[in-house]
Amino acid sequence: MKIIQDTTNPLKKQTSVLCAYVTEKTNQVFGLEGINPKIKNAITESLKEIEGKLGKISIINTYDLIPAKRILLVGIGTKEKISNDTFRFASGKIAQKIKDMKVKDFAIIVPQKTQLKQTSIISQIIEGVRLSLFSFDKYKKEKINFSANLAIIAPNSKDITKVIKRAQIISDGVIFTKEIANLPPNECTPITLANFAKDLANKNKMKCRIFDKSQLKRGGFGGITAVGQGSKNEPRLIILEHNKGGNKKPIVIVGKAVTFDTGGISLKPGEKMDEMKFDKCGGCTVLGIMKAVSELQLPINVVGIVPSVENMPSGESYRPGDIIKLYSGKTAEILNTDAEGRLILADALSYGEKIYKPKTIIDFATLTGACIVALGTNVAGMVSNNENLVKEMTLASNETYEEVWHLPLNEDYMSMIKSDVADMKNVGIGRAAGTITAAAFLQNAVEKTPWVHFDIAGVAWTQTGTKEKPYNPKGATGFGVRLILEYLRKNTQ
Ligand code: BES
Ligand code: MN
Ligand code: ZN
Repeated sequence: MKIIQDTTNPLKKQTSVLCAYVTEKTNQVFGLEGINPKIKNAITESLKEIEGKLGKISIINTYDLIPAKRILLVGIGTKEKISNDTFRFASGKIAQKIKDMKVKDFAIIVPQKTQLKQTSIISQIIEGVRLSLFSFDKYKKEKINFSANLAIIAPNSKDITKVIKRAQIISDGVIFTKEIANLPPNECTPITLANFAKDLANKNKMKCRIFDKSQLKRGGFGGITAVGQGSKNEPRLIILEHNKGGNKKPIVIVGKAVTFDTGGISLKPGEKMDEMKFDKCGGCTVLGIMKAVSELQLPINVVGIVPSVENMPSGESYRPGDIIKLYSGKTAEILNTDAEGRLILADALSYGEKIYKPKTIIDFATLTGACIVALGTNVAGMVSNNENLVKEMTLASNETYEEVWHLPLNEDYMSMIKSDVADMKNVGIGRAAGTITAAAFLQNAVEKTPWVHFDIAGVAWTQTGTKEKPYNPKGATGFGVRLILEYLRKNTQ
């Protein structure tokens, strides 16, 4: 999709659809001041209908009174309530309408003099439009992907071309994540993910290293090896390096990629088991982040680490009762083979810390059903060993509207995963604080580095209770890609 900056006066802009935002209550129409009185009347009539309510749309014919063929008005709610998501949401609605209308070009007027920065509004517009037009149609004969050229109408300012390019790359990253995270488990195994990573590395000049089954075994990755041994689809550890920061310490980003989680010998019930194809979403988020980081050529070092397995029951599976040795050297007693994510993540976290001596470690995982019980399906759980990192992530989250909530982790929780026979056990005490005891297991894999963990079980794909947003169509959401790119932006300036 081509998106360009355009400094034309909107009233003189030639386009199939000229889009303008309108506020609720005050009925302010941004950018159409001084328009032909006949059109103005039509706008007034339309406003009675949509009342500026967020996402409501009305189309007006311009009868050649101005060069634009039609005007599209979209509500953004009351002016005081404009948030960092308003323009993402409203622009997503615009894009869906444009798709219905099947036009090939449209223009959006960027509002001036709101409480938001112009650059933030433009990023929101582009993300909203691009992400709303995504649809997962790989397995449909009838392809529904649609594209049109978009002119962003804003007064000249030197940052705008950069901001457009950046928002395009970030949207590409999110779309890439959605595309691979939506793949069905018969078409996406650990090897498939490794191949995606290799492709990315080749295209974007990153370093890529893949550990296969025997290398994992020899390397002491006891968690990945144990979880992966029940499936004929072998495990892989995928590593991507973006090295553009000289000798700066890298940021390591780890993501859980269980391409299908049956629970293993501790088999899950059948209901909704199909959704466990989304148990690879954390890893897919990391790949999307690495794609964007490399395309943006950020002047930093970032390492993406994706442990990938399929968790299956078979004669070769690991079992409840097994004691395994993790990469850290610590032993874990397996009490439930469905608590597999923490085992593969522990290996990846310890490896990342030991080999890269990073400044920060971040991880994403669809780790616990308990996170959905605690926070629902619109907010991710956030657990960390570092208050400052929590603050920075909360700030980034306010910008991108990927909501997170900080949960505590202290010694009391750490003691809940003590085992009688090994250094730790892979479950806590009953169902109490399931998200935190899982994070406690992960914390054991990190010795001293500032670390933040995101449990994305509720937010990685749309499920019961997910808020409807045009830019989150059914399926994987790509949660975390925008968040981390915002965090990196703030931390590389
Ligand atoms: N992938 C699941 C967590 C999950 C469940 C995410 C439902 C999203 C929706 C994870 O591997 C798992 O099975 N966790 C167990 C842990 C338990 C056995 C301690 C869970 O949450 O039930
Ligand atoms: Mn599981
Ligand atoms: Zn899982």
